[in-house]
Amino acid sequence: RDVPPTPLWGYDGLFPGPTFETRRGEPLLIEWVNALPTQHFLPIDHNIHGAEHDKPDVRVVTHVHGARVQADADGYPEDWYTPGHSALYHYPNAQDAATLWYHDHAMGITRLNIYAGLVGTFIVRDAEEQALGLPTGEYDIPLVLCDRLLAQDGQLYYPVSEDPSAPWVMQCNGNLPLCNGKIFPYVEVEPRPYRLRLINVANTSFFDLSLSHDHVFQQIGSDQGLLSAPLERARIELYPAERADVVIDFSALAGKSVQLLHQAQGILEFRVKNSGRGTTAALPAALRNIPRIDPASAVRDRVLTLNEVDDANGNAMMMLLDGKHWSDPITENPRQNSIETWSFVNLTGDAHPIHLHLVRFQIVDRRPFDLFAWNAHRTLKYTGPAEPPPPHEAGWKDTVRADPGMVTRIAMRFEGEPGRYVWHCHFLEHEDNDMMRPYVVL
Ligand code: C2O
Ligand code: CU
Ligand code: CU
Repeated sequence: RDVPPTPLWGYDGLFPGPTFETRRGEPLLIEWVNALPTQHFLPIDHNIHGAEHDKPDVRVVTHVHGARVQADADGYPEDWYTPGHSALYHYPNAQDAATLWYHDHAMGITRLNIYAGLVGTFIVRDAEEQALGLPTGEYDIPLVLCDRLLAQDGQLYYPVSEDPSAPWVMQCNGNLPLCNGKIFPYVEVEPRPYRLRLINVANTSFFDLSLSHDHVFQQIGSDQGLLSAPLERARIELYPAERADVVIDFSALAGKSVQLLHQAQGILEFRVKNSGRGTTAALPAALRNIPRIDPASAVRDRVLTLNEVDDANGNAMMMLLDGKHWSDPITENPRQNSIETWSFVNLTGDAHPIHLHLVRFQIVDRRPFDLFAWNAHRTLKYTGPAEPPPPHEAGWKDTVRADPGMVTRIAMRFEGEPGRYVWHCHFLEHEDNDMMRPYVVL
């Protein structure tokens, strides 16, 4: 059937964009050039933050998610620029091997720019990881997962709200999962282990991943690098912006087909060849030493709410962090190199993936609390024991699922340069409407 091509945007004209391969300690300079047209092809349905009407709609700024960089290279949302301009950003890569990703972060319009295609993978490698003998080269493949709504005519569709008091939509769940920008693609693999870097770059959807025929993943890493030891997992759930680094061993599957599934739906097919050049090295029993941050060493615990503002009809109109808007004065101001814990008190009915720029953190625990007591007296009354993170969440993270009815506590050291960064919900519709706050490292 003749369908017109789907317009998309992409870094270097690609969706997802080209993969950056970097090494710890080898700095990189990138000039991000805005060569987009001046008009957006997706509907801009409300006054975007800071919009001046004589300026073109198209504004971009790139952030490398999970990178520890100086504030002026972080892609601060208000550092956006219009077509014909560029930004020169310095990436020191002074951090552990990890699967990072880059994406647009322009104020108020991130959800549309990412939806249009502005995403890509950014890998940091290091010598310690190299010494482990994990699958590398063509046996190490990033899998960028998202979903999109495609209309009958094959065009990308972004939902528009009918509600005049809340002109934006609070979520955008697609009707088609995409793997590396394609609909149910396949890849030919050799009968040997492969390293696959799963990255959820969707606007709002989570992925509930498994393999056909009850095959299992060996999870070796999460957001900010390797776990302490490989973990056998039948299912992996990823909220937006979360990553899972896995090894799948196809050694015993020559000539077979294996599917990567989201719930029951295939999103990628592995066609295992009958033979290959590969070797079958066993995974090392230990991957990386992860020293625990002791929450008792925190100089401060910040209690921060996640809350929803409804319109007169009870529809979610806006989501806020600690009851504050983007433009309210900065209240989170950790000192450089200090250890803090942040406790996210989720007052909404949904889980939110909360992300901090600059730092990697550890999940301390999740603990149920009494919502009624909070609403009545703003006091935290716990209703059950604190649950430590399961092993797959016990490594270094930069995005954490804050469950409804729970206080989710994280611990981190504010390593890096002083300056102004952001933290936000990684549901992009929330981030743009107004679930993002600046914070400053003093
Ligand atoms: Cu994935 Cu503020 O970033
Ligand atoms: Cu980020
Ligand atoms: Cu949210």
